[in-house]
Amino acid sequence: MMAVSSQFSGLTGTPHTATPDPLATNPTTSHAPQTSATKPEQKSGVYGPVLAIESSCDETACAILSPDGTCLAQRVVSQDGHADFGGVVPEIAARAHLALLPGLVQATLHDAGLTAEQIGFVAASTGPGLIGGLIVGAGFGKGLALALGKPFVAVNHVEAHALTARLPGLVAGGAPFPYLLLLVSGGHCQCIAVEGVGQYRKLGGTIDDAAGEAFDKVAKMLGLGWPGGPELEKLAQEGDPKAIPLPRPLLGRAGCDFSFSGLKTALSQKLAPYGHTALPRQFAADLAASFQQAVADVVADRIEHALNMMPEAQLLVCAGGVAANKVLRARLEEVAAAHSLRFAAPPLRLCTDNAVMVGWAALETCQEAAARGLSHPDDSTTRPRPRWPLEDMAQRFTPPQDTLA
Ligand code: KG4
Ligand code: ZN
Repeated sequence: MMAVSSQFSGLTGTPHTATPDPLATNPTTSHAPQTSATKPEQKSGVYGPVLAIESSCDETACAILSPDGTCLAQRVVSQDGHADFGGVVPEIAARAHLALLPGLVQATLHDAGLTAEQIGFVAASTGPGLIGGLIVGAGFGKGLALALGKPFVAVNHVEAHALTARLPGLVAGGAPFPYLLLLVSGGHCQCIAVEGVGQYRKLGGTIDDAAGEAFDKVAKMLGLGWPGGPELEKLAQEGDPKAIPLPRPLLGRAGCDFSFSGLKTALSQKLAPYGHTALPRQFAADLAASFQQAVADVVADRIEHALNMMPEAQLLVCAGGVAANKVLRARLEEVAAAHSLRFAAPPLRLCTDNAVMVGWAALETCQEAAARGLSHPDDSTTRPRPRWPLEDMAQRFTPPQDTLA
């Protein structure tokens, strides 16, 4: 097994490995014997451990999960070549995925103590996302599956976020269907009714910026680094959330769509008198706190509406990088409690882009196919796609039409 750690140092990102993980066991020997974690379990519709790849944005990730969802190993490299540009540059991201993936996959197999031949099948995020990265990750996954003579499962990245809460042991009391998912990240901002594996209804989404995108843009206006969300939250701790009046776009409006561009514009007008001069620290902190409060108020209101649209929800789940925000979380907990619902937000490393969620979505897909009497999915002809509506996922389980009838 080749040494891989040196491949990551200073190249394109920061590797996150060996994260203490309540879900993970971590065998240290390679060429592990077949155990219950590695042997094929065709009864449940799963052929054996899944090797999963994530490359839809600026995280390059690989994970290996046993058929019951135990994480045997996972690695994530957060690419750092984008900060100078103030956002993810698709071309840089795709090239970095290409450079990182071979070593990352080998390192993850090594961490799991498995050889490639012991993998049951391969899965990769195949959409939605940045097309260059998707082509790299899905192409790598398909090639690996072909070389090993194993099936390839194409995973919808948003579906993977949606099913993460169901990882065994993650949410106390489990995450039974149906539940309401709020997905808030740099690229996504939507409310989804998760009704079953492959069964999703989008209740609402942003009509302009994603929540994380708004945090990033406002942080940039305030002269903070990128990604801006965590920096803005830190600065906001020094500020007064009531100091500067800002609008609450769509508050009280029917449905559960979101809008953040008006809020961003209102904030930029507060900055105008300062021109290019540095902002006084307290003023910047007050703006950060007021903006964060406005976002939390709006999101809480939209979720209130979404829960009224989905009275059957058993649970409120929040995923995506913005789920890390403590003020937002506190507001969402209040809304859930008012509806006598549990609130769950996966730990941050599973909220942000990772390959564990990709592997888990693939396992759930295989199990659902088996439960419906369908054969193990093999998506080696599924093309990567920048858009892939969740509603399309039900087609996977539609029995083939009898064309002779
Ligand atoms: O899910 P994620 O890692 O990547 C995607 O965008 O898919 O989310 C990253 C986003 C960034 O926009 C970042 O600024 C935001 O999540 N974010 C936060 C916080 N931590 C990350 N936004 C607000 N408060 C935070 N603490
Ligand atoms: Zn994502």
